[in-house]
Amino acid sequence: MSEKPIILGIETSCDETAVSLIQDDKCGIPKILSNVVSSQFDIHKEFGGVVPELAARSHVEKIDLIAKKAIDESNVNLDNVSAIAATAGPGLIVCLTVGLNFGKAMAMSLNIPFIGVNHLEGHALSPKLHSKLDYPYLLLLISGGHSQYLTVNGLGNYKRLGTTIDDALGEAYDKTAKLLGIEFPGGPKLENFSKKGDPNKYELPKPILNKGGCNLSFAGLKTAILRITKKIKTEQEKFDLAASFQKTIEEILYIKTKKAFQEFKKLHPMDNYNFVVAGGVAANQGIRNKIIEVSKENNFNPIFPDLNLCGDNAAMIAMVGLEKYKIKKFDGLDLPANPRLPLDENAKFLKGAGVEL
Ligand code: KG4
Ligand code: ZN
Repeated sequence: MSEKPIILGIETSCDETAVSLIQDDKCGIPKILSNVVSSQFDIHKEFGGVVPELAARSHVEKIDLIAKKAIDESNVNLDNVSAIAATAGPGLIVCLTVGLNFGKAMAMSLNIPFIGVNHLEGHALSPKLHSKLDYPYLLLLISGGHSQYLTVNGLGNYKRLGTTIDDALGEAYDKTAKLLGIEFPGGPKLENFSKKGDPNKYELPKPILNKGGCNLSFAGLKTAILRITKKIKTEQEKFDLAASFQKTIEEILYIKTKKAFQEFKKLHPMDNYNFVVAGGVAANQGIRNKIIEVSKENNFNPIFPDLNLCGDNAAMIAMVGLEKYKIKKFDGLDLPANPRLPLDENAKFLKGAGVEL
């Protein structure tokens, strides 16, 4: 095994085609040698959401070019790559298959190990690309498809404390944005709208705030917003609604995070508590500020991935690949794509779209 292994990561689970090369380093934090992400916003925006067939077709068209770009930018000779890591799930099956098969073909032709990666574990470990982080830690994963509190006990070792019982937080941002006439994916633009509005203008519901432990719910919020948007006439009222939505989300996360802190402390009494907030929605500055506030009040150290590592990328997939490579946890070339691959094996799926309880 090479002293400083190099992992090539591939991510195609949804609407980003991404390839990255990272190299292990003695300091314990790997070096990102290249991190190429090609988004498909322009393809899907007219449909207001990701169209799986179009997404898959775009991955097929771009994956080899993106891989070549990532390899060129890294200045790595392919003979020096130690293993190929590719997302195996969860995600859209037609999209996952593209990156997974491309990765298997590379591993086979280079005669090196192949490693299938859980996309959610990629988000969970993403801060390890720039910070030293020991297990166990508390994780809030907030993305377009998932919203969960988990304890991260080790590689592949997760215990779920709470999850959304309906929409994911990113989905709630995107749906609210759509109702306000903002283009898909509306999350980041909705945040910008919110900066121009009055956060106290509209009173919005906070579903299951004081029940359901660390579980989350956002569907009721969306219904309330639909009702208000029907009466909205001015641009300023749109900004006010965006600001009220942003404030409501921050308040929900403040209360639910406090509950998750209590549960984590019961499970893992220790001196220093780390709290990672990862996934696309972790790029939201208002949420970051609220998380910093509640963390400081409760003796937790808040950790966020760098902004370019919050959304889907392949460096985080390579990061998981590197940890698995070090313990020789390889997969066979028959590893299937699993659109509902859970993080914790005990997860039961109640309904589609990756919503778990
Ligand atoms: O992690 P991600 O890139 O993809 C999934 O794995 O789902 O997350 C994408 C989600 C989208 O719903 C997007 O609107 C949301 O993250 N998002 C944001 C922000 N940036 C991205 N939501 C709120 N505020 C942001 N600044
Ligand atoms: Zn993601």
